[in-house]
Amino acid sequence: MKGNDIRESYLSFFENQKGHLRLKSFSLIPKDDPSLLLIGAGMAPLKPYFTGKVEPPRHRVTTSQKCIRTGDIENVGHTARHHTFFEMLGNFSFGDYFKKEAISWAWEFLTEVLKLDQSRLYVTIYPDDHEAHDYWHKMIGLPENHIYPLSDNFWEIGEGPCGPDSEIFYDQGEEFGTDPENQMGGDGDRFLEIWNLVFSQYDRQKDGSYLPLAKKNIDTGAGLERLAAVLQKKKNNFETDLFFPIIEEASALSGVPYGQSAQGDVALKVISDHARAITNMIADGILPSNEGRGYVLRRILRRAVRFGKLLGIQDAFIGQMIDVVINMMKPAYPELVDKQAFIKKVAGVEEDRFHSTLNAGTDLLSEMLEDTKKKQGTVLSGDKVFKLYDTYGFPWELTDEIAKEQGLTIDKEGFEASMAEQKERARAARAKVSAKVATPDTTKLDAASLTTEDRDGETKLLLLGKEGKEIKEAADGTEVTVILQNNPFHAEGGGQVGDTGTITGAEGVMDVEDTKKLPDGIVYVIGTVREGTISEGDTVKAVVDRDRREDLARNHTGTHMLQAALREVLGGQVNQAGSLVLPDKLRFDFTWPEPLSSKQLSAVEEAVNREILHALPVNITEMPLEEAKKSGAMALFGEKYGSVVRVVSVGDFSKELCGGSHVGNSGELGSFRIISEGGIGSGLRRIEAVTGKKAYEMMKADRALLENSAALLKGKVENIPEKIEKLLSEVKDLEKQLEAMKKQQTKDELGSIMQNIQEKKGVPFFGAVVHADNMDDLRKAADVVKAKLTGGAFILGTVSGDKVNLVGMASPEAVKAGVHMGKVVSKAAKVCGGGGGGKPAVAQAGGRDTSKLEEAVGAGVAAIADMLG
Ligand code: ALA
Repeated sequence: MKGNDIRESYLSFFENQKGHLRLKSFSLIPKDDPSLLLIGAGMAPLKPYFTGKVEPPRHRVTTSQKCIRTGDIENVGHTARHHTFFEMLGNFSFGDYFKKEAISWAWEFLTEVLKLDQSRLYVTIYPDDHEAHDYWHKMIGLPENHIYPLSDNFWEIGEGPCGPDSEIFYDQGEEFGTDPENQMGGDGDRFLEIWNLVFSQYDRQKDGSYLPLAKKNIDTGAGLERLAAVLQKKKNNFETDLFFPIIEEASALSGVPYGQSAQGDVALKVISDHARAITNMIADGILPSNEGRGYVLRRILRRAVRFGKLLGIQDAFIGQMIDVVINMMKPAYPELVDKQAFIKKVAGVEEDRFHSTLNAGTDLLSEMLEDTKKKQGTVLSGDKVFKLYDTYGFPWELTDEIAKEQGLTIDKEGFEASMAEQKERARAARAKVSAKVATPDTTKLDAASLTTEDRDGETKLLLLGKEGKEIKEAADGTEVTVILQNNPFHAEGGGQVGDTGTITGAEGVMDVEDTKKLPDGIVYVIGTVREGTISEGDTVKAVVDRDRREDLARNHTGTHMLQAALREVLGGQVNQAGSLVLPDKLRFDFTWPEPLSSKQLSAVEEAVNREILHALPVNITEMPLEEAKKSGAMALFGEKYGSVVRVVSVGDFSKELCGGSHVGNSGELGSFRIISEGGIGSGLRRIEAVTGKKAYEMMKADRALLENSAALLKGKVENIPEKIEKLLSEVKDLEKQLEAMKKQQTKDELGSIMQNIQEKKGVPFFGAVVHADNMDDLRKAADVVKAKLTGGAFILGTVSGDKVNLVGMASPEAVKAGVHMGKVVSKAAKVCGGGGGGKPAVAQAGGRDTSKLEEAVGAGVAAIADMLG
């Protein structure tokens, strides 16, 4: 049975005999599912039907779904059944039939339609799934020794529906092997999984948890390529008619026959697999790029080219492979024929790009690998992997694969670090260059025919430039300038920054990063090709980032209203000195001699908001300059205007000459909020403000701040001031109490230490260890002692931080009796590893060894005693 016939008989069995709606394969690009990069299973595009978010056109559906899986791309070509692209046959029930029907119909199709030998069929089930067991055993009559409980029989892909499953295996016979790997459950090829029945009853959440689904569903998947291998009795999928014609073509091109060498066969298989993937990915709208899906395509295509090289194919050949693929697949996918030329063109450009550097890159990589081996290394350094990527377009995965073939690995982290550095360099370089991006010579353009209507849509790309020179086409990653026939992008001017958006051609997409105007009025855009190729002469779709434009319009009208409000509050002497209109804020510079008071600022803000609430219509009219000036429209002093000018008025509140973007009604601003006011030079002030979304976001942030503060204070938002006042007064009380306690503590301490007073020659003296945070506090304590110990001498010591501090004082009487405090303290300090001294009456010192504090004070006391004889 041919591959195309197997697909058809599956779909018609479920359509005609089991009441399913047959749907076409969905695109490989997932719709509204950020959890998936590419469609990798029949159920993936149907998730909303399973979860009940969307009502399906029927509760039973059958498809043959194109799938891409690249998780183990390096195995492709080496095993019998790994593929990047494959087709999954599936029958699905959305809350309709369940296990019983799924099992009995699968059995019916396999044994009655495909007429597979029943004794060769085996199944696995989820261990707890007694129901499935009983259906297989009792209803179907499958013997126990053909039923295997396996705990990993649970199927899921990204977020969404999932559940326990039951897999059906086909025993291809002992000639495939009898070793343990070729028993049921092993990794060998003998027992081939041909169909997976998923009893989907959970909904996996973003956080990884599982919720039960309201209705139970069936999701099944049977690999078309595997069924073909079984029915066509081929040892591996590549020998089926779904692949073999491609192998034959590649073999004819290269002169390497299939089945001659293991290496040659791997290359032929890789090419046959990848040709199918490339064809279908491009057909579904994926274009080569360095990110996301485009990168997956690039990787696959470059891997195919490299294996072509290994076979000795020197010239471009992917186009020929695509022809074979389309010829094979067109009965089921007739639309491929319409897209054939396009697919070949996109693949051809990418192949050429890679071809030109592949040889040099391969030689360099061989050298690098040799070099690493010579140095007894096993890891190819990250900067080398990066060099191959950056200079020769080698995806790191390709380098990894080639390195592995030679027993080495690559330093992936090092590669990523180099990559991050380069991105940063490129960003910095771009920032520098962007300011200077020049268009090529525009004199050949018919400037009068160019239009700048503010409407997204199709137009022609007239002039493509790179670094000031005209180019015919630009591949992804290239920074270009573009001039369009009809240009909807608004150019930078009058303080408003240029528009951004996208320009999409048939073969590529570019991100528009800025829009500018040449002195003669021609508008051009600056941007970077993101995917595929953009060419001069292309018919393209130009789309402005409308959200951003709306933000700009709000802020531009807001700027005019701010000027009017400033004149209302401060008077007509206010003159505009510059402005900047960004999507997220506006800036207005004006002449004014002094900072605005908070009262003035709030009056200005209020005036603008008042006119927002008045919902004033914004009118834009063109008129002769003289007339505009007469009508009182504000113009910038020193600015050159044409003879016909554009006048923008916001009700009767504001009237200005302006070429920028504006809202239709002041009410669209939503609200206006000043965020800063400051001086920027003598007599010049600057106000920054926000409107619309940003103002709302700030309001939300304020509320969150208040709510968080209230929660911290364990109260309500409206009680925050009261709570804070209470807290502050409590703190004050506590500080007072603390102060009093400290004083008391010192007093107590002094009281107790002064009990150890000795006396000689009528001079009382003592030494003590006290608590003090620093030398100052220690001095204060000493002053207190001095006042109490009439006619005496003493030394105090303390530990502050990791240091010892010592202070000594002697009354005039004590000094007269022979006490010299400088010497006393110096002796004491020596004991604790320090130094210092002073006069006979007062001295201080520090030491390092805190453990010797008491000893030091003791030495000081002994010294006083000595001095008193
Ligand atoms: N969704 C199931 C699978 O891909 C059928 O195996």
